Amino acid sequence: MNSRRSFLKQISGAAFAVSTAPSLLSWATAAQNGSIAVPGEDGMIVRSFRFVDLETPVEYFNTWLTPVPHFFVRNHMHEPSELNAEDWRLSIGGEVEKPLALTLAELSKLESHSVVNTLECAGNGRSLHRPQVPGIQWGKGAVSTARFSGPRLRDILQRAGVKPTGKHVMFRGLDEVPGKVPPFIRSIPVEKALDSDTLIATHMNGAPLTKHHGFPARALVPGWIGAASCKWLTEIKILESEFVGNFMSPGYRFPNQPGKPGDAVKPEDTHPLTALNVKSVIAGPLDGASVKAGKVAVHGAAWAGEADIAKVEVSIDGGASWNPASLGRDQAHYAWRMWNYEWKAKTGDYGILSRATDTQGRIQPAAPVWNPSGYLYNAVDQVKIHVA
Ligand code: MTE
Repeated sequence: MNSRRSFLKQISGAAFAVSTAPSLLSWATAAQNGSIAVPGEDGMIVRSFRFVDLETPVEYFNTWLTPVPHFFVRNHMHEPSELNAEDWRLSIGGEVEKPLALTLAELSKLESHSVVNTLECAGNGRSLHRPQVPGIQWGKGAVSTARFSGPRLRDILQRAGVKPTGKHVMFRGLDEVPGKVPPFIRSIPVEKALDSDTLIATHMNGAPLTKHHGFPARALVPGWIGAASCKWLTEIKILESEFVGNFMSPGYRFPNQPGKPGDAVKPEDTHPLTALNVKSVIAGPLDGASVKAGKVAVHGAAWAGEADIAKVEVSIDGGASWNPASLGRDQAHYAWRMWNYEWKAKTGDYGILSRATDTQGRIQPAAPVWNPSGYLYNAVDQVKIHVA
């Protein structure tokens, strides 16, 4: 049984059971609160049942590569229910000399390249914006890191021969589109498509992509918002101009000028989102935790899209003073850095903050840039803890 059907069956089974077994009422409440695990996605926070939207709890930010079952999942619609790898084709057309239709076997014969990339949903942290905005109320965990492997998109485009008129590269996924929802189609500029690290990924952490993450192939546009990396890829089309559609506009756009929180923004005063912001998140101690006085490891992850992390600082006095954190050994251009600050904690209540700076000189701000869709939240992270 495919995962969507078994998932739905579980939900309807649970809903049925609610009327007969009181103990399952708490299950349903937990599910509504988004704290229930989906089998196979151990400990993940369910942000949407309608489509599979799973958030990684921040305490899982303790390995450089996120194990696939702990990698967040963001679906705008239903995952393809039937996907036969034998029949699957990737078509490449539009502004090309020679349109192609590649099988999975043909794709796997192309030279494979690996990129460790931190994938973050543009809406990560949306629930923290004030005033609040509609959309999936992600906490801090719509972000994870994996080693993605597969042929370079550049090699495929060179085979097809992009005409000089080809300026944008469109991706179409095989999602099952419910009702009037527009299909998941987006485009990226040809320059980013030709970057040697932009992939048609078939593998994640050394294993074939799982269904949640786009089996059999997805785009991997490193350093950019997750929406750029189209899953269940079926078509690549070279266009003369940016693709026009819901997920390019009004979706995934950002105000050209920061406005006041709550202000409306005119569509003509926005641009498409591309690279991610500089950002750090505290993975431990957890918000609200009570810890023993003595050595406390304040730790987390920091990332910066197309830039690298230069430093992470930690404040234990609510931002009055900042201490350098040490950065983890593991690093790659588009990947997060783990960080750690060893603190000699004395009894009391503390507001602990983390702040990242990147190699482009960007510093994680005290307040995010508010925008009506709640994208790119990256304010200094904060947890409140008690030291006993
Ligand atoms: N691709 C398709 N076909 N359909 C989708 O809904 N969601 C996008 C992107 N690719 C999406 C998609 C968004 S918004 C994000 S953040 C990433 O996939 C999430 O990738 P993941 O589910 O592998 O973590």
